[in-house]
Amino acid sequence: MCGIVGYIGEEQAAPVLLEGLKRLEYRGYDSAGVAVYTGSGVQVVKSKGRLSVLEGILHEGEDLPGRVGIGHTRWATHGAPSDVNSHPQVSDGGLFAVVHNGIIENYLELKNHLKRRGVAFASDTDTEVVAQLLEYYYQGDVLDAIRQAIQRVEGSYALGVICAHCPEKVFAVRKDSPLIVGLGQGENFIASDVTAVLSHTRTICRLNDQEIAVLEQDGVRFYDRDLEPIEKTPEQVEWDVAAAEKSGYEHFMLKEIFEQPEALRKTISPRIRDGRVSLDGISLTREQIEGLSRVYIVACGTSYHVGAVAKYAFEKLLRLPIETDVASEFRYRDPVMDERSLVIIISQSGETADTLAALREAKRQGARTLAIVNVVGSTIANEADDVLYTWAGPEIAVASTKAYSTQLAVVYLIALYMAQELEALPPQELKASLKALEALPDQAEQCLSHKETIQYFASQYFNAKDIYFIGRNVDYAASLEASLKLKEISYIHSEAYTAGELKHGPISLIEEGTLVVAICTCRRLFDKMMSNIREVKARGAVVLGITTEDLRERLAQETDCQFCVPATLDFMLPSMSILPLQLFAYYAAGMKGCDIDKPRNLAKSVTVE
Ligand code: M6R
Repeated sequence: MCGIVGYIGEEQAAPVLLEGLKRLEYRGYDSAGVAVYTGSGVQVVKSKGRLSVLEGILHEGEDLPGRVGIGHTRWATHGAPSDVNSHPQVSDGGLFAVVHNGIIENYLELKNHLKRRGVAFASDTDTEVVAQLLEYYYQGDVLDAIRQAIQRVEGSYALGVICAHCPEKVFAVRKDSPLIVGLGQGENFIASDVTAVLSHTRTICRLNDQEIAVLEQDGVRFYDRDLEPIEKTPEQVEWDVAAAEKSGYEHFMLKEIFEQPEALRKTISPRIRDGRVSLDGISLTREQIEGLSRVYIVACGTSYHVGAVAKYAFEKLLRLPIETDVASEFRYRDPVMDERSLVIIISQSGETADTLAALREAKRQGARTLAIVNVVGSTIANEADDVLYTWAGPEIAVASTKAYSTQLAVVYLIALYMAQELEALPPQELKASLKALEALPDQAEQCLSHKETIQYFASQYFNAKDIYFIGRNVDYAASLEASLKLKEISYIHSEAYTAGELKHGPISLIEEGTLVVAICTCRRLFDKMMSNIREVKARGAVVLGITTEDLRERLAQETDCQFCVPATLDFMLPSMSILPLQLFAYYAAGMKGCDIDKPRNLAKSVTVE
């Protein structure tokens, strides 16, 4: 939620800030703004609407002089999207300009406190409280004002700050919301995501909770919350600029859909060696695996849908009780865990607030935690006992695609690793499973090469009012994700149901011409699915069936059209069946004229509850 960027160097700051914000716009896009030290003071320019509105006002930044500044692109939490609620927020006396990502939970209490002392507020935001607090505490030392302010605020924050009295400095501090410092030659940056600085530098330092950075043109100093100086070791980011650009594709989502085969290769192949799964760096021992009484899989959104598939894979391979939970529910349902529980946390960003809170709750109760994360060095990756990275590269489109595929691959690897350690699978079966896993990248490529079929199908149905996805077992888990993909970017109302549950209520929604997408890749449950398809067809539904080549003929007898995906082991089938349905969502949204990479009301990284 929200993107932050800050710059100090020799270049004109405003164009650099706008360029960085462009790369962060996927994090929030209802308003944007910059604050630059112009020589005579801090000047703020901000506007409701997409970043392009701000770019227009500033003539790409040219109109705003100055070499030191901060910028922000917003996903509104406190106060509607409006000019006045946009960031940067400025203190009453105009001394401080602040950009913020996160939520100040006690902002009302602080606001009332400051109001009683005569401070005038201009906006409805929680962020303004920080700007006002800084000015309230400021006695000539910005660092000390920051120290005092962060002692008072509760909640999560990544903050970029400039002060009219310190024209040669940018300040940054964070808690529970990501912030990095980019180190350049004669220039330095802050950003909520490395993608914002990649075109300038790949050398970064990640701020930990309540660490403060003071950026000057020629160097950066770091302090802890008590203002004791600290040393930080810079790291090199492996992603390059191209990874964060569209590279000729019309949208990031399409690019990322087609990156899936390669991302799968990178995620899977280094982890299979000499016919065995090798999860380097994982400290989970064989004894600990043997001692497990229960596995929890906790995540949000698309990552939760990976957990839905994982449940089937784990139960089949390990015969262990598995619970899959939505993180926002898990954290508040008082789950029962102990040192014999393994909690697998799944998150592309590694920053999702509810998922992070679930991880902390699991640790608090003594459970072992294992995170599947895409963003290296993210908070979840840092805090979990073990982390397995998905090597998907930056995922920019709000709709998650390659993260889903690579998370699934890691889930299969973990399940097979545990089965291998427990000798729960006969060697031949383990070998065959690993072979199937290694085949997934090529199979994905093959599947995606039929994109025109899906494009044509989307052209027939992009005007649908409602679309239902049905399936059983892993096909149901894939239906959940297919339905989310469609609704989030095309705004077509869509639901996923277990096919067997239809007749317990949802079938009343089916009428003449309703589109039902039936995922029927599970051979074992194919006949059951055929019965369910007959039930909806008898009530007027048009049915698109997704299946494997060997089942096509039988499916053709019951459905209006079919799409075949390569066959694989049962529990890996969602890795195939989701591909045409990602494309379907993409093309349907495009044909409806939707803003595919930036769907309404959404943002990529959900760092608030
Ligand atoms: O970064 P995370 O995987 O923790 O994000 C969780 C969800 O917000 C995310 O998967 C969301 O549902 C997708 N962007 C939807 O496509």
